[in-house]
Parts: sequence; structure tokens; C-alpha cells
Amino acid sequence: MKPHSHDLPPLDQRRRPLGSLRLSITDRCNLRCGYCMPGEDYQWLPARDILSFEEALRLTGLFADLGATRLRLTGGEPLLRKNADKLVAMLCAAGRFEEVAMTTNGLGLGRYAVALKEAGLDRLTISLDSLVPERVARLSGRDSLAQVLEGIDAAAAAGFTGTKLDTVVMAGENDDELADLLAFGAERDIEVRFIEYMDVPGALEWKPALVTTRAEMLASIGAAVGVRPEPFGERGSAPAGRYRLPSGARHGGRDLSGLVFGVIASTSSPFCAACDRSRVTADGMWYLCLYAKLGVNLLELIRSGVSDDELRARPAGGWSERADRGAELRLEEVDRQAFVGDGADPHLEMHTRGG
Ligand code: GTP
Ligand code: 5AD
Ligand code: SF4
Repeated sequence: MKPHSHDLPPLDQRRRPLGSLRLSITDRCNLRCGYCMPGEDYQWLPARDILSFEEALRLTGLFADLGATRLRLTGGEPLLRKNADKLVAMLCAAGRFEEVAMTTNGLGLGRYAVALKEAGLDRLTISLDSLVPERVARLSGRDSLAQVLEGIDAAAAAGFTGTKLDTVVMAGENDDELADLLAFGAERDIEVRFIEYMDVPGALEWKPALVTTRAEMLASIGAAVGVRPEPFGERGSAPAGRYRLPSGARHGGRDLSGLVFGVIASTSSPFCAACDRSRVTADGMWYLCLYAKLGVNLLELIRSGVSDDELRARPAGGWSERADRGAELRLEEVDRQAFVGDGADPHLEMHTRGG
């Protein structure tokens, strides 16, 4: 059901609209990236609490009523959800969003890329932190580079365009590979985005010394390609500032002139003022900020048999009251150390919340 005409989509306390919904479809992952899942033992969400496909469809539709125009499916690793392609097909067929995208670690794309394309998925963002097999093995806990590269090729072969590559840059780990990753993206027509290591809940090993800032990334890229990257285009509510390499940029025997890439500087330069996103976990907890400790239990509500109007009222009211600016508050910390996430509540972990 559509909202009544007097129910205009709400703005939050800082006059931000609800523009994007990120729905985690499973908390399971087949990797163990240290910045996201540093622990050994995990308390997984109970199977009975996982939103069914029908519940996910209903909830996403209500968020569309409230003004969300973009839907992004996340995990854990979303392709570990059984019949993930069928869920994508259901969500796309409903036609409620201008775009339905997915953030994946790429391991399942060899198997799923064609089915996802057929299901109507618009776009993929693939996580890749290094092109050195041993580094990938160490950073992600599994010797997975070859399979991820196959997945990237499978996505292109299936017809996906506009694919992005997300690289979390960690000082002393992969910060010497930025130009290599740019050249890799250039060869495949994939836009690479470098993400500052964030002190999100669950990133237990985070330390200021491990952060490579946007300024450091740009300097290192400039030094490697011989010319300084220049700002490119408008930013809007997107977390990534975009840059372009001017003519004369070269790396590894390749001309990189005109290449565009992104930098997500959430740690050193938060974009909270323009943040239009909210997140729903695989078990229907709604979070208004990546750093929020408390969420709203939509699962309980949906299973109590309420009407669409009653169910929609909860996120509508929650969004109107929203004042979150988690990353800005972290920046104000004097002696910034890793945020909480001791395993007591799995909802605090990034893998449950979906990057
Ligand atoms: P597109 O621009 O449509 O590709 O979407 P996106 O930029 O949201 O893509 P993606 O999901 O790949 O997000 C990239 C990364 O930005 C995430 O993995 C996080 O590291 C970071 N990020 C995403 N959302 C937020 C957010 O709401 N707040 C903060 N501080 N960081 C975020
Ligand atoms: N810092 C920055 N990005 C992170 N992600 C997860 N944890 C962190 C973190 N601590 C993002 C990465 C990953 C995606 C799933 O979530 O981009 O690729
Ligand atoms: Fe949005 Fe919170 Fe991220 Fe700031 S920290 S951009 S408010 S999700």
C-alpha cells in the first residue's frame, strides 16, 4: 500500500531524507577480514529470526513508501543466503527502487553472476583489498584471491556494468598497492574506491596508526603515477569523493590518464551531514547509523501481525527523530581507540550490520 498523500517522506532532525536502505540478508561470511570479523567464535543470529523472503519484500516496500530510492543488499556475505538469486528476483520484480545493488566479497560470483543478472540486479560492488595472494590470505583469513578474480570476470561476462571495487586501505598492509589496484580497475573498466579503515563496532583491532588517510592515499597515488589526482564531479550523499588522474598518469607501463576513482574518508572526514542511509539486519533490527548501539526491532513488530500502516509508522517516526552522526562523534574523541563490540551482542558487529 502507498502512504497517504499527507504522509510525506520524513526528514530527520538534521533535515536529511531517507534515501537508501541497506538490507543485510545473512550474517554469515566465508571470509574473516580482520577489520570486520576479527574474532574466532561468533554468535550467529538464530535461524528462526532471519527475515523470510516475504518479510524482506514487505519491509523493503515500506521503506520505499518512506522515500528510499536505492536498495543495497549486504551480508555478512549476501551470496551465502540460500537462494539469494531468488530473493533478488523478488525484490527487483516488485519494482520499488530505482536501483537494487549488492555488496559482495566476490567468492560466489562464479556461481551466481548470471542468475543475479537475470534476476534484475542493477549493480555489484566487490570487496578486494590486495592483488597479492599471500596478503589476501592473511587479511581475509583464506587463500581466496584466485576465486575472487574469477568472480570479477564472471560478473563482467554476465553483463554487469558499473561494477565498483572496494578496498579498505590499511597502513603497512596494502597501502603500497593503490596504483596497482587502479591499473587493475582500469583494465576491467571497474571504478576502484579506497576506504579509510573505520573504527566501526566489531573492528576490534583498529588503531589510529593503521589508518591511511585520504590525504596520504592521494599523495601515494600521485607519487606512483607521476601526477597529482584532481577532484572530480559532485559528491551528493555518496560516501565516496571522486578523483581523476590528469594526463600523463602512468603506472606499470599503462597510461592511466583520465582514470576516475573514489576515496571514502569516513574516518578522517565523515560525511554524516549528507547521510541518507539506514540499515536493516538479517533479523530485522533497524539501525539509523553504522555506529548506533541501539536498533529498533522490526522483526517483533512484523511478526506480531500489524498492518502495513502500523508497521510503516515505526520507521517513519524513527527517521523523524534521527539525529545520528556517529562518525563525526568518533572524530571528536580525544584518545581514539577501537570502538566496542566484545561479542556480547552480535548486532554490534560490522558483519551483522553489513558494511
Ligand atoms: P554506491 O555509491 O551506490 O556504490 O554505494 P556505496 O558507496 O554505499 O557502496 P558500499 O556499500 O560499497 O559502501 C562502501 C563503503 O563505505 C562501505 O563498505 C563502508 O565501509 C562505507 N560506508 C558505507 N555506508 C556508510 C555509512 O553509512 N557511514 C559510514 N561512515 N561509512 C559507510
Ligand atoms: N573499515 C572500513 N570498511 C569496512 N568494511 C567493513 N569493515 C570495515 C572497516 N572497519 C567494509 C569494506 C568491506 C565491506 C563489506 O564493508 O568495504 O569491503
Ligand atoms: Fe551516516 Fe552514521 Fe555513517 Fe555518519 S556514521 S555517515 S550518520 S551511518
